Amino acid sequence: MLNIGILTSGGDTPGINAAIRGIGKTALCSKDVQLIGFRDGFRGLMENRSVIFDNKMLSGILTLGGTILGTSREKPYKMNVGGVEMDMTDVLVENYHRNHLDVLVCIGGNGTQKNAFHLAKAGLNIITLPKTIDNDIVHTDTTFGFDTALGIATEAIDRLHSTASSHHRIILVEIMGHKAGWLALGAGIAGGADVILIPEIPYSIESISNSILERKKQGKSFSIVAVAEGAMSTDFAKIYNELQEKIDATDNKEVKKKLKTERKELDKIHTTNTIRLANQLQEITSIDTRVTILGHLQRGGTPSAYDRLLATKLGTACFDFIKKKKFGVMVAVQNNEVVDVPLEKVVKKIKNVPLDHPWIKSARSVGTCLGD
Ligand code: F6P
Repeated sequence: MLNIGILTSGGDTPGINAAIRGIGKTALCSKDVQLIGFRDGFRGLMENRSVIFDNKMLSGILTLGGTILGTSREKPYKMNVGGVEMDMTDVLVENYHRNHLDVLVCIGGNGTQKNAFHLAKAGLNIITLPKTIDNDIVHTDTTFGFDTALGIATEAIDRLHSTASSHHRIILVEIMGHKAGWLALGAGIAGGADVILIPEIPYSIESISNSILERKKQGKSFSIVAVAEGAMSTDFAKIYNELQEKIDATDNKEVKKKLKTERKELDKIHTTNTIRLANQLQEITSIDTRVTILGHLQRGGTPSAYDRLLATKLGTACFDFIKKKKFGVMVAVQNNEVVDVPLEKVVKKIKNVPLDHPWIKSARSVGTCLGD
């Protein structure tokens, strides 16, 4: 009997269930294969909360948003146990063996890749799948969830156009993406935003307000500003990046901890950045300004056809890698081909938008202000 464990971890994304179905249906077609799902990410493996899949459970889930297994952001080495953070790696390893698993499939974003690699180093057979709306995982052309979120954010920008235009307003729309600008840039271009702000290009308020006032001079009395949640002003980015460099440079655990607490404080201040920016733009331009924060709406609901296809492709290929005993890898897509990438090449990295990316060039070519 081949026992495959599976869990989903980190923020949910449309397409996870399609991936579970892809792995599950392929696996259950083979004789002597059992698929065991763990609830709520790594926490479920720690608490040994599991479910054995049958074909019925895999039916009707292709189009479902979220994850039927539930998810959490818990880390094996820093788990909340009665209000105290504890390293529970040994318990997860024990439960892996108690369930006689031959492999554990972890579906998740950057945090999950790191946690999965941690378990691989602890001796478990691990395979991961890349899912996140942020599209910020390295060594894969894309991640499932991104295309759906891109569609939702684009539709939101489309809809904001008519109300912004009718009221002659500036509307800032905050778009998710963590520390990468893929979602805001993609939706901003597709939705025809007049200004697009992404973390990769720190912005100056003068540059944004000048472009909006210039539009007004040309008779365009409204502007749509697509703001990535991670976008920063040049001043804030300078402080943030200097702190990050200090964190990266030190090996002293105590100093690192202190600096990370400082970074958390900056992150907290930054959560209200779009609202502050809106107030500043209203003051400088004297144009009535509003903010729409799309938030978790971007992660909800049914996956796009593209994400269903991608998740099914990676899920079904995952079973082939299991049969070949290819462990310690992420199943990725490169130039349309499914490939396996060693986890050590994936972890602790973020795929940002390169400054020479064609999307950036296209945005500039159609006259979009990128804040610089
Ligand atoms: O990583 C996916 C993501 O949606 C990010 O875009 C966002 O910053 C974060 O998760 C939100 O996390 P949570 O759902 O825990 O609030």
